[in-house]
Amino acid sequence: MSLFEKCYNYTQAREVQASGYYPYFRPIEDSYDTEVVVEGHRKIMVGSNNYLGLTHHPKVLAAAEDALHQYGSGCTGSRFLNGTLDLHEKLERELAEFLGKEDALVFSTGFQTNLGVIASLVGRNEHIFSDRLNHACIIDGARLSYGSTHKYHHSDMEDLERQLKKVPDDAGKLIVTDGIFSMEGDIADLPAITSLAEVHGAKVMVDDAHAFGVLGETGAGTAEHFGLIDEVDLIVSTFSKSLASIGGVVAGPEPVIHYLKHHARTLIFSASMPPSAVATVLAALDVLRSEPERLEQLWHNTRRMQEGLKGLGYDIGDSETPVVPVVIGELEHMLVFWKELFDAGVFTNPVTPPAVPEDSCRLRISLMATHTDDHVDQVLDAFAKVGKEMAVI
Ligand SMILES: Cc1ncc(COP(=O)(O)O)c(C=O)c1O
Repeated sequence: MSLFEKCYNYTQAREVQASGYYPYFRPIEDSYDTEVVVEGHRKIMVGSNNYLGLTHHPKVLAAAEDALHQYGSGCTGSRFLNGTLDLHEKLERELAEFLGKEDALVFSTGFQTNLGVIASLVGRNEHIFSDRLNHACIIDGARLSYGSTHKYHHSDMEDLERQLKKVPDDAGKLIVTDGIFSMEGDIADLPAITSLAEVHGAKVMVDDAHAFGVLGETGAGTAEHFGLIDEVDLIVSTFSKSLASIGGVVAGPEPVIHYLKHHARTLIFSASMPPSAVATVLAALDVLRSEPERLEQLWHNTRRMQEGLKGLGYDIGDSETPVVPVVIGELEHMLVFWKELFDAGVFTNPVTPPAVPEDSCRLRISLMATHTDDHVDQVLDAFAKVGKEMAVI
């Protein structure tokens, strides 16, 4: 059979495209932070990860522009060789301090950060314990490593303990979890995870992609939220959400960061973050520190949306954060629902199997600090109207 046969036989997405209900790869023609223009129409954006609304902040834009002129458009090489700027090192120092860790290392994406850290840190006869609902890049990082992977049921601490007990006491162990789960919006049980880690001699790594700039008093994430910064060994995050850019970071003990610098293949063999992106993140971090009211506004909007959706009778699962899944039902029903909302001017993200069970496809809403009460109310009105018409509520 020809290698490409599976491609020629792949018709599922084309069938949905032909039906007019295909929700993916829709080009955005213009962006105004909380509103975007698609197919000539303005939509309220509740499908981004731009939690603090910093992609259009004047200080962030100015910093990117200055860096572009000072350093050029790209680094054209890896951190290891010609791709380290003083800006990368400044960002690493600032992030280490912000996250309460000795040192930090920045990668070109969050995906590459998890691949590089997990694959280079966990070797033969060592073990990874991973929540079943962890992000794809944690799963792929575990696949790339020479260690053994043990998946535990989502946030099931008894299952985690059972799995930890199966492994020799003296073996190297890494427990890895999302801080906020990206499809569910619930928070990892870090107090239980860190206690189990202590008993079983495991290290703990938290992926705070969705928690950075969202959880904790200063926005430093899940460990800060629970007061467990010292108990969490490695904090990973991305810059593609609250920090309004692209890139990723791991923060932890200095010798571990030094080791990763010399072993993480996704760092060594891939070009570094471009100057404008690094400057964007530095400026976004500054804004996070100097405008704490953004965090308050994000949580105000989150509560308003969550209460509104629950009041309408929607099932939002165990969400306790700005990531809010709204359960609609079977795939086709959900796609029609998505399109009705889209046509009513609301941009949401559909979540389909295998990420969720067949009968509980959902639309994921992500709140931003810059949404107004009026935005939230307009989205709720659209959910009320479409939900009644389609007998979901
Ligand atoms: C939990 C989690 N980790 C990592 C990533 C990857 O981040 P990036 O977009 O920087 O590659 C994402 C992005 O969707 C994520 O949700």
